[in-house]
Amino acid sequence: VAPEKLLSLDDYRREAKRRLPKMVWSYVDGGADDHVTISDNREAFGRWSFRTRVLAGHAARDLSVKAAGVTLDLPIILGPTGFAGLSYWRGDIAALKAAERHGTRYAVSTVSSWSIEEIARESGVDHFFQLYPQSGELAASLMRRAWNAGQKTMFVTVDVPVRGNREGERKHGMGIPPVLTPRRLLNVARHPKWALDVLLHQRIGGRSLATTGGVTGAIESIEIQSRELMQSTLDWDDLAWMRDKWKGNLYIKGVLDPEDATRAVDLGLDGVVVSNHGGRQLDFTPATLDVLPDIADAVGDRAEVLMDGGVRRGSDVVKALALGADAVLIGRPYLYGLAVNGEDGVAHVLDILREEIDTTLALMGVGSVAELDRSWIVPRASAAA
Ligand code: FNR
Repeated sequence: VAPEKLLSLDDYRREAKRRLPKMVWSYVDGGADDHVTISDNREAFGRWSFRTRVLAGHAARDLSVKAAGVTLDLPIILGPTGFAGLSYWRGDIAALKAAERHGTRYAVSTVSSWSIEEIARESGVDHFFQLYPQSGELAASLMRRAWNAGQKTMFVTVDVPVRGNREGERKHGMGIPPVLTPRRLLNVARHPKWALDVLLHQRIGGRSLATTGGVTGAIESIEIQSRELMQSTLDWDDLAWMRDKWKGNLYIKGVLDPEDATRAVDLGLDGVVVSNHGGRQLDFTPATLDVLPDIADAVGDRAEVLMDGGVRRGSDVVKALALGADAVLIGRPYLYGLAVNGEDGVAHVLDILREEIDTTLALMGVGSVAELDRSWIVPRASAAA
């Protein structure tokens, strides 16, 4: 499909699904249990309509925001996703270059496909680092590497004390290592472009699917890594320790409760990311857009509030900002972009969102995203139960 035929993020999703082997697709697009939270994240946006004011007379709209200590040209950050190299061999590096083209940032996952240092070599600006909290020594070493590589903003992801129940991944043999059967191999063979791109480059680059850049040098196999990474014993003291150690901006990612958000901000964190991990962890957690207003009320005047989950339209971004978010993160949409067309695919996904935000604001009569507050949206009448 030619890029000009891909008009929306939904088009990208369909095309990515066609291009990726089932095993990879189940990882990229799947979630916990029955995917109820995945749907709820989307549906929450459908419960709001816009107020519009006519004849506003704005020649252009200003989409820039200040978030995570920097000015972003658009209110969208590429959120951390593990193993981005499974969608496109240049994975993290392609994504961060697309982010730079749009004047925004990429958050590098602890389980990135490229190492922190490789990523730093390729970046023109400081990107963000995401840490899965873990035993002190390993965390300290990753934090040191990220800091030395120029990453001054860190997201600590706290919604993975254990892995969620992702049956799709198990069904298709996506695991550590992948469980290959003749049928699954046949499915991979039916995606020759993916196989050539990802598998061949993995070989040439000396990369294997079972090691990741993010922790290369610290620990080798994903199996050991995931055992080490999932630390259900961690508590608020560990977060306090990180606040003490990390001199840059610090965000907690994966908060859904105003009291947790308050506690994190009381510890001196710079912000919270309202997130249910894109519905990949606990099914039947509330939609992030639904809990956003209470969290923004609780901490919004003292800290930054970011959110993610189900953002697929520019209008979704506008609604999240109106309900109290300073910026949003996207996860799956840029992986669709990577799968379809690498760096250009991600850049195009961001183009689409930018255009949609701009059109939405223009039609609302709003001149800049900074103007957005709750007065700009109203409950959607036809969605009332
Ligand atoms: C994620 N997410 C995630 N979060 C994180 O903090 N560290 C990680 O390594 C990952 N890995 C990861 C892999 C994949 C394939 C996906 C789809 C997601 C969660 C991610 O940062 C974000 O919270 C969600 O993706 C947001 O929801 P949407 O935009 O995908 O609906």
